[in-house]
Amino acid sequence: MGAEIPTTDIRISADTIRRHKGGTPIVCLTAYTYPIARLLDDHVDLLLVGDSVAMVLHGHETTLGASLEMMIAHGQAVMRGSAKACVVVDMPAGTYEDSAAQAVASARRMVDETGCQAVKLEGGVGMARQIAAIVAAGIPVMGHIGLQPQSVEKDGGYKIKGRTEAAVAALVRDALAVESAGAFSVVIEGTVETVAADITRRIAIPTIGIGASGDCDGQILVIDDMVGLTVDRVPKFVKEYADLRSVISHAAGRYAAEVRSRTFPGPGHVFSATRHGDDA
Ligand code: KIV
Repeated sequence: MGAEIPTTDIRISADTIRRHKGGTPIVCLTAYTYPIARLLDDHVDLLLVGDSVAMVLHGHETTLGASLEMMIAHGQAVMRGSAKACVVVDMPAGTYEDSAAQAVASARRMVDETGCQAVKLEGGVGMARQIAAIVAAGIPVMGHIGLQPQSVEKDGGYKIKGRTEAAVAALVRDALAVESAGAFSVVIEGTVETVAADITRRIAIPTIGIGASGDCDGQILVIDDMVGLTVDRVPKFVKEYADLRSVISHAAGRYAAEVRSRTFPGPGHVFSATRHGDDA
């Protein structure tokens, strides 16, 4: 196993991630905002501005609520808040599937307006042309195969992939197609563990698992799930490393009680007419 990706003054590039195949596991998290990017930047190799932002921050039912403008705004915030991590921004549904030209135009806008290192899009064999065209335009692409959240309505729900021989073969075909199209890495989401492990051995680009396998070259989780902020359903593959739901709810309860009892603001939180130099 190789060394960790070194910390330098310059950002980790998509190519550095690609060359880290088989090394120390690549640490990835989603981020959507400036303060969270600032907190995560020291700890991760890659920050994904996922289209999960539509659900997590904007309250949409699915990721189909994301738009190019929404992704660009969050991409800009994450770029401002990070200095080291490789930042990848998701291409939202409806901005790349129709043609290679549409995919290149959307990816170009994403990179020009955010300065991100790469874009991500969902799909295997069916999106190989789009991936190849974006890569040919000089923009690194991360693939996304297995459970594809942009297709959950079409698929009839969040279904684990790779439970039949045919499904395993389709997943392997998708992984190989994404690799040959020139992607620098691929997210494998919601698959039977052995399939993700097998794909990791078969392809030469890093696999980033989410609900996939500990044998993947890296792991990613949605930040709000990981810190216990998700209020609705938390998927089985998530490990909650903190319980921010309770922390925030407790803090809000104390604040409400203190406002109602006029305990807050106290003397330390107001400005007297006589003292100077204590501006907020
Ligand atoms: O949108 C997202 O957050 C993602 C991750 C789950 C990989 O695509």
